[in-house]
Amino acid sequence: MAEKKEFQRLPLKVVPSNYNVTLTPDLTAFTFTGSETITVEVKEKTRVIAINSADIEIQSVKFNDMTGEIKMDSDTETATFTFPDMLPLGQGTLSLVFTGCLNDKLKGFYRSKYTTPAGEERHGAVTQFEATDARRALPCWDEPACKATFDVTLVVPKNRVALSNMPVISECKTESGLRSVSFARTPIMSTYLLAFVVGEYDFVEGRDSDGVLIRVYTPLGKAEQGTFALEVAKKTLPFYKEYFGVAYTLPKIDLIGIADFAIGAMENWGLVTYRERCLLVDPENSSSVSKQYVALIVGHELAHQWFGNLVTMEWWTHLWLKEGFASFIEYLCVDHCFPEFDIWTQFVNQDLSQALDLDALNNSHPIEVPVGHPAEVDEIFDAISYNKGASVIRMLHSWIGDEAFRKGLNQYLSKFAYKNAFTEDLWDSLAEASGKPVREVLSTWTSQMGFPVLQVSETLEDGHRALTITQSKFCADGKSSESDFQWMVPIDITCATNPLKPFYSTVLSSKSSTISLDGVKAGDWVKLNPGTIGVYRVHYSSTMLDSLIPAVSNMSLPARDRLGLQNDLFALAKAGLSSSVDVLKVAEAYKSENNYTVWSDLASNLSTISLIMQYTDCSPLMDSYNIKLFSDVAARVGWEKKQGESPLDAMLRALVLSMLGHSGHTDTVQEAMSRFEQHISGEKSLDADLRSAVYGTVVKKGDKSHFDNLMKVYETSELSEEKVRVLRVLGYVKDEQQINNVLQFAISDKVRSQDAVSCFAGVATSVLGRQLTWEFVQANWKKLSIMFEKGSLQARLVKISIQDFVNRSIIPEIKEFFKKNPAPAASRVIQQSFENIELNAAMLERDREAIKSYLTKTDL
Ligand code: BES
Ligand code: ZN
Repeated sequence: MAEKKEFQRLPLKVVPSNYNVTLTPDLTAFTFTGSETITVEVKEKTRVIAINSADIEIQSVKFNDMTGEIKMDSDTETATFTFPDMLPLGQGTLSLVFTGCLNDKLKGFYRSKYTTPAGEERHGAVTQFEATDARRALPCWDEPACKATFDVTLVVPKNRVALSNMPVISECKTESGLRSVSFARTPIMSTYLLAFVVGEYDFVEGRDSDGVLIRVYTPLGKAEQGTFALEVAKKTLPFYKEYFGVAYTLPKIDLIGIADFAIGAMENWGLVTYRERCLLVDPENSSSVSKQYVALIVGHELAHQWFGNLVTMEWWTHLWLKEGFASFIEYLCVDHCFPEFDIWTQFVNQDLSQALDLDALNNSHPIEVPVGHPAEVDEIFDAISYNKGASVIRMLHSWIGDEAFRKGLNQYLSKFAYKNAFTEDLWDSLAEASGKPVREVLSTWTSQMGFPVLQVSETLEDGHRALTITQSKFCADGKSSESDFQWMVPIDITCATNPLKPFYSTVLSSKSSTISLDGVKAGDWVKLNPGTIGVYRVHYSSTMLDSLIPAVSNMSLPARDRLGLQNDLFALAKAGLSSSVDVLKVAEAYKSENNYTVWSDLASNLSTISLIMQYTDCSPLMDSYNIKLFSDVAARVGWEKKQGESPLDAMLRALVLSMLGHSGHTDTVQEAMSRFEQHISGEKSLDADLRSAVYGTVVKKGDKSHFDNLMKVYETSELSEEKVRVLRVLGYVKDEQQINNVLQFAISDKVRSQDAVSCFAGVATSVLGRQLTWEFVQANWKKLSIMFEKGSLQARLVKISIQDFVNRSIIPEIKEFFKKNPAPAASRVIQQSFENIELNAAMLERDREAIKSYLTKTDL
């Protein structure tokens, strides 16, 4: 946990209803001046007003005509104004004049660097306010429940684009030759959703079927890269309107790609900001994976326009309400716009499985968690709020059905529009719409951490088949939990006769339950959790598991079930509840698998075993196992795109070639090298879908010249996606000196700080690279902690550089280091990483010999 200072919310004796704010950024001196007139209501007698303010110098403050005294407190990030007389109750105005700095920390009001088509380096100004950084641009009541309207004016140089949440209503020239641009009044909203952008951009535009003006802003000269996102947004807004039964309420929405951007995207009402590679799609150079990601993230931020912007959580404790929800709805939206991505199957491996991995740790936390201090707020933007939140909502959606779900949402959004809500408010609306005990069931998922593993076995008594299901908390280390966790678990059960339609559904509300299988045909397999929708793991008796394996091999079991089955098995093996060798045996049943997502999940699970085997002399054995396992599918997908193939086929090809290339499959490595040379020489450009696989293979298996050529790709490409593709694999080099060069390069001014993390991640994939990364992080901590001051980046950097160690002995060293060098936004991540290291070490000790002898013998 972050260091706990006594944290207090603002006293609300005086509350704002409108901010009239003017900001003048200086794009060369990196400062800004501001003035604001805030209409407030004095609700209780007082002479004092406390509001949030950080890194801002306030020159003067007045209440109506009365001048106040100013006291700043940088610990609590507040400014306190004391006036000589009592403030009159009722409406008044608070007027402030202030100055600040356009910082380079990617938060508050900050500068972002870009190069003009003529090659000139310039800066624009951008905002990122969530969660607690609006106070760095303007003194304000920076809490989600303090909603107000905003009249914004930006004073900017002549030839710059100026954007805010609302459309421009007027514009005039100032005496100093600047443009003063005023925007229409916003609806009543929270401060973290306010946004300003000043810079040079091109755009493409269109209208959705309701006439909402949508623009996608891109770097100069790159307007066509906005077309894809524009199409997604045009389909998505009407989809949400129809789904929620509530229209988008603003006249316009802009989506803009920002060169320096700490997170993926931010849902500012009417002006959504994105990291460039999360928005821009280049027809020649973007991969299918990227396109799919752009669609998801556009879907996510647009969902927030309702869920978060129109109805806002009362406090950050309920953050998950908007993040979990948007992370669920983005899939509905992409499924609607692009059914060819079979996106719900990918949900299982991208969201559910990550949620379960994290939530099985002792250092997890409940979805709803009390937070106060900004560092604590930053910490909960994690896989629990997002992935577990989304997974729990998916389970709920399936349990109450789409119709009741939509009806409940509509009620919730209508009832709380322009207001704030608590988690329970959503449960109540959904309970009313469905007639089901939503609050009782769901609170077991949101107020306690973790999730259950269901122990399932079949019994036969007097010729009657029955199923016994017992729940207990699933712990990543396989130990049974002392505390008495219990969940209300919606359960569906299918059998061979109809793998898609449950023959039985129930909500398990006790420790254990027995279900009759009288209706099931003799010889039919029985399986829990069809579609892998439940937020739990299933531990079958070996007889039940054995009966399911043929249904995997012949793929009569649906893809999401095949995915879930092996995912549970790997988790059980990692926890020591089943043997890793059994899992490798089961993996053989997937040899003729044809589904990209199933392969992808299997590959990432196998990589856990590969990771621990890196610390033995068996890495080559693991490589040949992987090559054999993937050989059939490799032969099927080949190197060339087939006519009319789906994006999933292209993704499968990339996955398979990358697996074979990294494992050192001779033909694949050679072909990768030859295609790389053709790509570099300009003879034949590499298909964007294959680039990651090829780049990774040539760095890992090639020599210095491959590395140098790839570096040229980095330097010449103007596309962020391409640069990051390169950064991710540069660290695959083997030589110690070269690895250190890559680490140095990552923090040079050639790499934007948000992208450096991807570079570190690549380095930390090998035994040597991992060690060197950790040493590098320690040696350069001062510089890094400045670069990564922004909470989520700091946490990611720390996680990447420590979580994959396999030797326990490193733990005290890491502890010692962070004791001396606190990383408050990473404190939970550090604890979680220690657990991961312990788990890796335990698995290595337990299974190394057995895995070795299996790998030596298998003739897969
Ligand atoms: N509201 C968040 C942005 C955010 C993230 C603010 C972390 C402060 C800290 C936004 O809606 C979001 O969730 N962005 C995600 C992308 C999304 C597709 C999961 C992100 O930035 O990673
Ligand atoms: Zn979000």
